[in-house]
Parts: sequence; structure tokens; C-alpha cells
Amino acid sequence: MTDNNRTKEKLPDYTTSYWTKSITLPEFPKLEKDIHVDAVIVGGGITGITAAYLLANKGLKVALLEADKLLNGTSGHTTAKITAQHHLIYDELITNMGKSKARLYYEANMTAMNFIIKTIDQLQIECDFSKQDAWLYATTEDYAIKLEQEAKAYEALGIKSSLVDEIPLDIKVKNALIMKNQAQFHPLKYLTTLVNQIIKEGGQIFEQTTAVDVETRNQPTVFTRGDFHVTADYILACTHFPFYEGLGLYSTRMKADRSYIIAAKTNSKFPGGMYISADQPTRSLRSVMINGEEMVLIGGESHKTGQGIDTSKHYQALEVFGEHVLGLEAVYYKWSAQDLTTLDKVPYVGKITSGQEKILIASGYRKWGMSNGTAAALLLTDIVLGRKNNLADLYTPSRFYARPSLKNFLIENANVAEHLIKGKLQLCNKDPNTLANDEGSVFSIKGERKGAYKDKNGKLHIVDTTCTHIGCEVEWNSGERSWDCPCHGSRFSYTGEVLEGPAEKPLQKYDYKMIDNLISDDSGY
Ligand code: FES
Repeated sequence: MTDNNRTKEKLPDYTTSYWTKSITLPEFPKLEKDIHVDAVIVGGGITGITAAYLLANKGLKVALLEADKLLNGTSGHTTAKITAQHHLIYDELITNMGKSKARLYYEANMTAMNFIIKTIDQLQIECDFSKQDAWLYATTEDYAIKLEQEAKAYEALGIKSSLVDEIPLDIKVKNALIMKNQAQFHPLKYLTTLVNQIIKEGGQIFEQTTAVDVETRNQPTVFTRGDFHVTADYILACTHFPFYEGLGLYSTRMKADRSYIIAAKTNSKFPGGMYISADQPTRSLRSVMINGEEMVLIGGESHKTGQGIDTSKHYQALEVFGEHVLGLEAVYYKWSAQDLTTLDKVPYVGKITSGQEKILIASGYRKWGMSNGTAAALLLTDIVLGRKNNLADLYTPSRFYARPSLKNFLIENANVAEHLIKGKLQLCNKDPNTLANDEGSVFSIKGERKGAYKDKNGKLHIVDTTCTHIGCEVEWNSGERSWDCPCHGSRFSYTGEVLEGPAEKPLQKYDYKMIDNLISDDSGY
């Protein structure tokens, strides 16, 4: 492990998250032998790191496995708002689950925020933390009515708030709902300190170590791609999408969305606060200090993974919005993130299925992973330590509320079926040889769909576009230079490697020369 967590000097960089670029994370080796621990935690994001920190702190032997580098997933690409104001949610939760569960959801997220504050204080973490009010605003009549209903839900749940008719930004709103005293921070500065604490407490961390399977019969065991295994009393799957689904059918019970963020220097001074629009397309704003200068994170443009327009257009739309509201001097960073939403919008946290007591999962934070991910880590820790936690029922992955789960289940799976068929029928006649450098496209050869990306040096990378999860057809994502699946959100690099599950295996790759010969042979492609 390297111990220098110092801030990098370099600015600016495109399609890179400011969070990941502004910090040098410690590095860890691959797992290269079999080990035994009390708890093996898979996934190096906020949930896995917080749970490993808490368990190591209680004297348990822990091992944290990360397929890539720590904090390179959603935790490194968030807007990093720490809040219990999760867009429109409380009115819906009251309708679907009742008042007491809706209140528990609020409390879970406030407890998570308070845990973060306490930890920052205890460990003296410098992570640009600041208290901010959270504003949810509506610009149309329809959403103004929804906001009024949400305000009533706040009142019914005893959540302190105010409904106002203007916000301190150049946006004409119908109304806005304020939740006071929420917060924002630099998530990686915070989490790097927890990583260092895990090591201090004797925990082990392994990077570039992909967990591929689980054995449950005798001792819970995680198998890695390198053919090593970790035995443990508990397995915690904190991998964004669970790396092991068991019989939980998670890919049929969650949907994946991508959204976009730009970090910009603005002409007008930002008034403070964290903002999000209730209306679509979503717009989100918060300030951030970058190299001593205040900038603004402008986010939004969410769409189902693999079903968006040319991704560069999403960034342009955010720039247009930022220019209109604050005036943009320069955009320094831009990046995107993937989020998973469950059928009823509450995360799945707990036993993977009711019969498997020792395999725990945490997933489906919608777009609110800082608080939901921390709440999940607190709950998982209590389960491992055998402590009672009154959130267990609310978050249990085996719950099922006919309303709205059944409806959303049918909608999502009809959407999957549509894409499964549609993708097979869409063939494209583009010749990969005609691609410009740094351009990707689907093409067909002898009636089969393939994907090509010509890299910046002019080298072609060809893959089969059939997703290795259950066979939908992936689409090219020009912003991230990845192949994204419209069905359950798996993503693959341009060379075909898995970036995001549920797919476990890479896309099939083809040698360019072989394809070129086939193209020359083909009468028409
Ligand atoms: Fe399920 Fe691609 S992610 S088919």
C-alpha cells in the first residue's frame, strides 16, 4: 500500500470525475492465496468500505475484495449530497408502505448522515464537509401539485420543512420544498480515511480481485477469478449490482439508469444550498471547491442505461442549463454515473434470500448512495454482529409490496423483452473501416450484429454485441466509450471487459483481420 493520499495538482480533465482525479488513493495487491476471515466484503464503494471499517473496528478479521480499484464505481461518480431529501419519495412511501415505514426510511438516512458527521469529527477528516439546505423545486403546475403532496407527507412524518414559492437561483419555479441542515462533502477524502483505518485495525484489502461465485453449503466461500477462495462466517455483497444473485432474481427487480454531471466555473456566484428539480429532465446543483475556487456541479439527464441518445448531447444539455442559470465561464470536469432502483424505490439490504442467513447484499440506492449506502453498511454490520436493527424489515430484499412492485416488475420486464427482440432486429450497414478515430458503432456482417470502436490511434476493437448476461444487444456509449446493455444495465469496455454487472463474462472479441476478410467476402453488410 502506498500511504500518500495527497491531492493531485492537475486540472482540468474531461470525462473524469473530479472526486477520483483530486485524490491519490492507496493501492492494494491482488489476492494471490486462499484466506479465512470472519467477514469477507465484496465491493470497494461507500457501503463495502464503511462496513469493513465498522466490523474491523469491532475486532473482526475482515477482507475487502474489489474487482477494479477502490472507489472507482458509483461512489467516485456521485454528486455527494448527504441528505434524506430523495427527490419525490415520502408521499409515495406512505401510500405504498404506510407511515411508520416511510418515517423509518427518513430516520435511516438521517442516522446515516449523523454517522458520517460523527465519523468526520472522531477521525478529524478534512473532506470539504458543509451543512447545506436541500431544495426540491417544481417549474410546472403538475409537479407543483406533487410537491404540495410531498410537503403534506413531510408534515405527516414530522419532517421539518418549508414550502416556498421562489429559490435563490435564476429559475422560475412554481414552488420549492426545503429540508434544512442536510450536507455535502468530498466523498473520496472521507472514504480514504476509512480505508486507512481498516488497515490500521488489521483488515485486508485486495484490488483487481473479481469475486465470481459463492459456495454456501459448508462454510460460506467466495471464489475469485484468479482461482483463490476466501472462507468466512459472513459474505457481504456490496458490489453495486450483487455479484452473486443466488435465487434472488435481482436483475428482474432493479432498473439501471445513467446520469451526467459537469463541474463548471460560473459567472454568477452560487447562493449556497443543494438543489434538485422535481420535474423532468432532472437538474441538480451544488457547489464544490476545486483548487481553492468555488465551482458548481450541475447534474441530471438521467435515462435507462443503454437507452440514451448520443451521450455527448447529455453533457451539452447540462451546459445549456448551467449557462442559462449561472453563466458558464468554463467546464473543468464531466462524468457520468450508474444507479440502480428497486421496484419500490427502497434499497435491498439484508439476507440475499430468506434461507441464506450468512450471505448479505446491499443494492438499489436510487441516486442517493451517500446516505442509503451508509445506512446499508450500518444495517449489515448489525446483522453480522447479531444486533437488533429496526430497519431490517423495511430493507429486507425478500419483501414484496404488490403496489407498486408488481406494476414496476411488469413494466421493467416488458421493457427487457422489447429490447431483447428489438436489438436483434436492428442491423446497421456501417463499415468499421469508415469509422473516424475515437468513434464506435454497431455494424452487421453476414447478418450478425457486431460492435466496432476505432481508438485514438486508429486501432479497431471488434466485439460481439450480444450481452453475456441473458443475451440482449448492447449499444455504443460514445461519452464513456463503453458498450451498454439496455436490459439490466451491464456495461463493457470497448475491448469487451465487464465494467458493471449483472453480466459476469466479457463480450466475445474478434480479431480485426478475420473480420476484415469476412467484410471483403460479403456482398453486402
Ligand atoms: Fe441483462 Fe444485458 S444486462 S441482458
